[in-house]
Amino acid sequence: MHSLYRGKDFISTQDWTLEELWMLLDVAWELKRKFALGIPHRLLQDKTLFMMFFEQSTRTRNSFEAGMTQLGGHAHDLTPDKMQISHGEEARDTAKVLSRFGHGIAIRNCFIDEGNKYINEVAEHAHVPVINLQCDVYHPTQIAADIMTVVERFGRNLRGRKCVVSWAYAPSYMKPMSVPQSLILLMPRFGMDVVLAHPPEFDLMPHIMKQAEENAKEAGVKFEVTDDMDAAFEGAHVVYPKSWGALMRTRKAEESMAMAKKYTDWICDERRMGLAASDAIYMHCLPADRGYEVTDAVIDGKQSVVWDEAENRLHVAKAIMALTMGGRP
Ligand code: CP
Repeated sequence: MHSLYRGKDFISTQDWTLEELWMLLDVAWELKRKFALGIPHRLLQDKTLFMMFFEQSTRTRNSFEAGMTQLGGHAHDLTPDKMQISHGEEARDTAKVLSRFGHGIAIRNCFIDEGNKYINEVAEHAHVPVINLQCDVYHPTQIAADIMTVVERFGRNLRGRKCVVSWAYAPSYMKPMSVPQSLILLMPRFGMDVVLAHPPEFDLMPHIMKQAEENAKEAGVKFEVTDDMDAAFEGAHVVYPKSWGALMRTRKAEESMAMAKKYTDWICDERRMGLAASDAIYMHCLPADRGYEVTDAVIDGKQSVVWDEAENRLHVAKAIMALTMGGRP
């Protein structure tokens, strides 16, 4: 089957076939090798990406901006206050105008019940590919870098490998659900058994849970849910403990944080890493709340792959842009 990548949106990995996702990873590895060797790869010369950030970002913003420079193009770093969005300009009007100026639109908008809708509305009216830089439901560019990192450690055949997506306590802010949701959707498609662990109040969106179950069934792998972090860690090959808000119970940050305070012992420490397989890796999308979500000993330890995972954001960003904004005419 031949896929056309040029012009394709990247809003959820669910919209890409497994074959297309492997192509994306293979391009990311090719660009990673070229970057390491200092070989120019100006695949998007003179092209423009408009990046709209409704929230803060370190990894996503800089991987896409640096990536666009390395591909020979330019990325505009936009925030709503720099645009007429702040005066209420509608998504469809912004989409049509930016489509006339450049070659791609990328958006981070994590407002609950709004972010994914906004990105889809832009995509519906844009004539250029739209990339989701994180919304209230999905974080596809992060998860593509995550699977790339997992494959680098364990190889392409991930059957029989166990991935634990676990809630962890963090006092800093109410983090979105997009990373755990994207993980439980994608990891089964690549052949991994997935265990989702969280306290009862921190359940994920029902339609995502249903889709994750269907993905696991289709792939012939296990998808289990538990409220026991220790049991989840038993024999795991990939552990991905991170915080998220109790957004299925409340939209108020202070209420979510109060619920979270009951579970300060949901931390990834050396004892818990000892429950996992001896070759297990520790992953986190970052930023991590050190001392709460994870101890320094674990995140700075031998089993941590967080810096490779962060670096892979760059290679994946470039692969997504090169395929969707360039590629075969
Ligand atoms: N992991 C991630 O998306 O990081 P940023 O919020 O810094 O972009």
